[in-house]
Amino acid sequence: MNGRLLRTLRAARDRHIPLASLGDDLAGLQRDLDELTAFGFAIERHPVLGVCYRGPSARLCPDQIEEDLDTLRVGRRLAVWNRVTSTNDLAARAAASQANDGLVILAEEQTFGRGRRGSAWSAPAQSSLLMSVVFGQGLDPADDLVRLTALGAVAVAELVAAWTRVDARIKWPNDVRVEGRKIAGILVERPAGSVVGIGVNINIARDEFPSELRDSATSVQILAGAPVDRSEFCRELIQRVDRLCQDPAELEAAWNSRSEHVGRSVRVETHAGILTGVLRRLDFRDGLILEAPTGEERRLGPAQVVRLGPPPSE
Ligand code: BTN
Repeated sequence: MNGRLLRTLRAARDRHIPLASLGDDLAGLQRDLDELTAFGFAIERHPVLGVCYRGPSARLCPDQIEEDLDTLRVGRRLAVWNRVTSTNDLAARAAASQANDGLVILAEEQTFGRGRRGSAWSAPAQSSLLMSVVFGQGLDPADDLVRLTALGAVAVAELVAAWTRVDARIKWPNDVRVEGRKIAGILVERPAGSVVGIGVNINIARDEFPSELRDSATSVQILAGAPVDRSEFCRELIQRVDRLCQDPAELEAAWNSRSEHVGRSVRVETHAGILTGVLRRLDFRDGLILEAPTGEERRLGPAQVVRLGPPPSE
C-alpha cells in the first residue's frame, strides 16, 4: 500500500487534491487509490476536483502506522494480526530473540486477552488498541517491571490527554484512568526478554461496555465525542513509547506528575499491614516514598505493596 499517498491525502483533511498534483503515473495512482479503498479507507474521487480523504479504515493499517514513524527502538518492526489468543503470548515467543527488540505486535481481537492478577481483558473486535512491545533485554535489569509498566502507562496517559484534552491519570501501578474511569491497562510480563502489553479502549461507545463496567470504564471515543483513527493513535503511541524509553528522567517525572496519588493522603496495603500517610514520590529504585503521620519517611518497594488507594474517608 502507498503509505506516502495516504499521508498526503490525510494531511489535506477534507480538501480535494487534483490528480495531476499527485504525480505523472495516473494508472499507478488509480491502482494505489483502489488499494486504499479496498482496505476500507473512505476515499472520494471526483472527475474534476480530484481526490479527497474522508475517513479511516476500520482496520488497523500497518502502512499508515509505519509511514515516517522515525523511531529509534520501538516499532522498528511491526506485526498486525486479525485474531490472536493474546498479543503478549506472541510477544513472549518473539522476546526469546534479541533481534526482535522493539517489535510491536498488534491485534484486532484477542480470544484470551489477560490483565493483571489473572483477570481477563476483552474488547470488541476492531474497537481497541491491543498491543505488545518486545524489549529484548528490558530497559534496566534492576527495576524492569516497574519502569516498563510506568513506560506504558505514561505514554498512554499523555496521549489520551493530548487527543481528548482531559486529565488522564495513572492509578498505580498499571491503570490509566480519566475521572476515576479506566481507559487503559498495562501488563508487563518477563519471559526471556520483557513484554509490555498495552490495552486501550478506543472506539467503544458507553452501551458497548458490559453493564458491570459501564460506570467504571471509558474510551477515547466517549471522551473525544466521536470515533477516532486507531492507526494514527497507535502510531503516536509507538512514537511516545520510543521517546520515553530513551529518557528515564523524563519518564520518572511524568510518572509522578500523572499519578492519581502523589501529593495526596493514601492508604497502603502491604504484606506486613496497613500504612497511611502522604505519598510524596514514586521512584524507580526506591519504590513508593510515603510520609507517615509522624513525619517519618518510609520507602516501600513495589513487591511490598499489595494495594494503594485513598484513605477510607475520601
Ligand atoms: C490490566 O489492566 O489488568 C492490564 C490489561 C492489559 C491488556 C493488554 S491488551 C494487549 C496485551 N495482551 C494481553 O493479553 N494483555 C495486554
